[in-house]
Amino acid sequence: MAEKSQAQRTAFGGGKVILLGEHGVVHGRPGLAAGIRRGVMATVEAGERHLLECEPWGLKVEPSPDREGGARGEATLAHAFAAVLDAYPDSPKAHVRAQIDLPGGAGLGCSAAIGVAVVGALDRLYAQVRSPEAVAEASMAWERVFHGNPSGIDNAVSAMGGVVVFRRGEEVRAVPLARSLWLVVGNSEQPSSTKDMVANVTALHTADAAWVDQRFDAMAALTERGEVACAQGDLALLGRCMAENQEILRDLELVTPRLDAMCRAAVSAGALGAKVTGAGGGGCMVALAEDEAAAEIIRQAIDRVAGSAFVAEVAPSMTAQ
Ligand code: PMV
Repeated sequence: MAEKSQAQRTAFGGGKVILLGEHGVVHGRPGLAAGIRRGVMATVEAGERHLLECEPWGLKVEPSPDREGGARGEATLAHAFAAVLDAYPDSPKAHVRAQIDLPGGAGLGCSAAIGVAVVGALDRLYAQVRSPEAVAEASMAWERVFHGNPSGIDNAVSAMGGVVVFRRGEEVRAVPLARSLWLVVGNSEQPSSTKDMVANVTALHTADAAWVDQRFDAMAALTERGEVACAQGDLALLGRCMAENQEILRDLELVTPRLDAMCRAAVSAGALGAKVTGAGGGGCMVALAEDEAAAEIIRQAIDRVAGSAFVAEVAPSMTAQ
């Protein structure tokens, strides 16, 4: 029984990779994203005061309406915690523990995964039942503290899992998969700020809207083709879409030399396509493999350029029905 109530008070927020369309999604274009099994597990219990603990970061914060004070990471977490708690006025105090199994600031949607897990855990404590889409929406209050103007793609895929097509202002569409996607994710270990990268691309857009819009539209077309490729199990087509997307991200100045080298190593080792994933300017890249055995060979090739690559399977059963 005790075990059961513990299980009921635990919630997961998944990490993600963006397969196609990052940055375009901020500007109203569609993007294709896949949830991965690595993410954030949050556990909650009633406490004497609101408290959020983040492990393995060793951070413990109380909610604060203020962004100032304390180390930057702590102040942001405290502010984000306050932002989600605002939606549960007059509720008993909650002690949330978030166990984070994702690198932060690496393009794998770590902040969204924490937000989704924290909201999911609070929902369980306060006996609030809602759909994954509604959890994603509620966790946007958290994400806005971290990213200013997030599109919402990270939160949507974190809460729903599987593969989704996301477009701002529209219902998120779960994409059925004809077969598993074997992805290899490599971390350049170069720190990058999503907020800054989004601001940089927005500045490029302000300087030359027609040129940037052309690239956003091209990524939108790739997203459409990518969705069909997923549904038909046409991995070669999905890989080609990812490779074309990478060239657009290069135009938008988001591909660092190290990320470029990692993508090239992946393709030389047999990847069907490889690209930067997420905000770029550092962080992670993702490669698509034909199958599990190919993924392992690609993982080793990426590791020789920059360490800590991992394989993530996105199985057909992971997409919401
Ligand atoms: O770097 P990440 O994981 O936060 O990826 C964000 C994706 C962007 O399109 C660059 C921003 C957004 O809000 O959609």
